[in-house]
Amino acid sequence: MGSMKTRSFLSLIVSFSVLLFLSSLFSSNPLTVIYNGSFKLWHPSAGDQTVINDDCDLFEGKWVRDHGGPAYTNRSCRILPESQNCDKYGKDQDFVNWRWKPAECDLRRFDPVAFLEAVRGKTMAFASDSVGRNQKDSLVCLLSQASICIIVEYPLNLKGDKEENQITNWYFQSYDFTLMLLWTRFLVQEQERVVNGTGTGDFDLHLDRVDTNWTEKLPLVNYLIISSGHWFFRNLYLYENGKIIGCVYCGQANLTNYDFTYAIRRAFRTALQSIDRCEECEGLVTLVRTFAPAHFEHGAWNTGGYCNRTGPLNETAVRLSGTDWEVRNAQVEELESFRMEKTKWFGVLDVTKSMLLRADGHPGSHWNNDWNRGFNDCLHWCLPGPIDTWNEMLLALLRRGFSDV
Ligand SMILES: *[C@@H]1O[C@H](CO)[C@@H](O)[C@H](O)[C@H]1NC(C)=O
Ligand SMILES: *[C@@H]1O[C@H](CO)[C@@H](O)[C@H](O)[C@H]1NC(C)=O
Ligand SMILES: *[C@@H]1O[C@H](CO)[C@@H](O)[C@H](O)[C@H]1NC(C)=O
Ligand SMILES: *[C@@H]1O[C@H](CO)[C@@H](O)[C@H](O)[C@H]1NC(C)=O
Ligand SMILES: *[C@@H]1O[C@H](CO)[C@@H](O)[C@H](O)[C@H]1NC(C)=O
Ligand SMILES: *[C@@H]1O[C@H](CO)[C@@H](O)[C@H](O)[C@H]1NC(C)=O
Ligand SMILES: *[C@@H]1O[C@H](CO)[C@@H](O)[C@H](O)[C@H]1NC(C)=O
Repeated sequence: MGSMKTRSFLSLIVSFSVLLFLSSLFSSNPLTVIYNGSFKLWHPSAGDQTVINDDCDLFEGKWVRDHGGPAYTNRSCRILPESQNCDKYGKDQDFVNWRWKPAECDLRRFDPVAFLEAVRGKTMAFASDSVGRNQKDSLVCLLSQASICIIVEYPLNLKGDKEENQITNWYFQSYDFTLMLLWTRFLVQEQERVVNGTGTGDFDLHLDRVDTNWTEKLPLVNYLIISSGHWFFRNLYLYENGKIIGCVYCGQANLTNYDFTYAIRRAFRTALQSIDRCEECEGLVTLVRTFAPAHFEHGAWNTGGYCNRTGPLNETAVRLSGTDWEVRNAQVEELESFRMEKTKWFGVLDVTKSMLLRADGHPGSHWNNDWNRGFNDCLHWCLPGPIDTWNEMLLALLRRGFSDV
């Protein structure tokens, strides 16, 4: 520990007059996990997969009516991004009156104090694209109902000029808890192809080289939630070992055509392996947050697709097949397939099935019209909204075992 990067990163925090207890951040206190969860967890020293089944699978269930009201509103959460402030932009708020009910048990309402107690002195990071940022924003809203939080923003702009892509950290002083966003589109190294100074939307992807912009922060992190997916649905030129091996969707006769799930699998494998091999990351717990489907109907985002449903889809209408499920399976299978090598804790936050049903949870046309240039957002999730459930699941996992005993 104590690399230059680590120190300069921390000195930024200290320069905000925030006292951080390094010893607690870096304590190698091994997570003695009593895990009664229904999802799979691998213990490093066990060498093999240890599956401990609870009597309840959090990720299998249904949405039931609940008029308890949302955990926060656009008035009580001051950081709510304009692009997810669906109430402000006129979306009928009845879609918040649903609760995820696991088949065999109950998912408790989010309890910010319980969450903060569970992560006291720790750092949690979301390594992800904008959907992970969406979950991070939901978590900040849920937590800021309980604690005065100090915003620590780094003037480090990773991507272009958009503020949304900065690494932004939130520090909850009374619990010494740091929440970080580690922006990454593909988890692996990438470069957008530029023609005549204009981005083409096509990317070169190095499937076997991790994007070090997020991995370099890992020594600071205790809980990591990684996710990726939506950026893979485009022209991608795939590289391994520095050489082009083919492409996704490019339709060039001289290049081998790969399925997008191949690219996703390889990117996750590279990401998981580099987490596993991180030498300065003792005690790191990683959750793979599975793919969260978009719900464009009658077109794509740029061809007039929209999402104006007013309630969850009928479960019988959603088939667990098709693209969304393929992506989710690729992610879960990658996690399972390298278990023999694992030296750290890994688990899954399997939101895909629950979110497949929530076609009604997206902003649609109800978001900041300064940027949306007339298209509907059927990909991100309104705040408050069904995405808050991911953090209820996360808390349930924390309560069951991801905290020191
Ligand atoms: C919150 O939503 C209401 C609509 O219910 C809107 O009038 C108000 O401007 C919004 N407030 C903020 C701070 O976004
Ligand atoms: C990593 O960050 C650098 C510096 O901001 C940026 O130029 C580069 O494109 C980023 N890499 C990826 C894979 O996002
Ligand atoms: C790039 O710019 C040159 C000069 O303006 C032009 O001739 C060429 O067609 C452009 N290429 C593309 C792909 O737009
Ligand atoms: C494949 O063909 C395209 C033109 O269609 C060319 O620009 C490209 O360089 C070729 N790639 C390889 C690897 O030969
Ligand atoms: C959704 O939008 C379509 C197209 O504008 C319209 O025909 C339909 O009635 C709308 N549905 C609801 C529930 O508003
Ligand atoms: C869902 O669809 C099935 C078959 O079409 C139907 O029997 C059932 O009543 C529907 N359930 C709801 C809640 O609409
Ligand atoms: C987990 O299971 C063990 C053994 O059945 C039990 O003693 C313990 O209380 C359980 N822990 C939780 C958090 O449910």
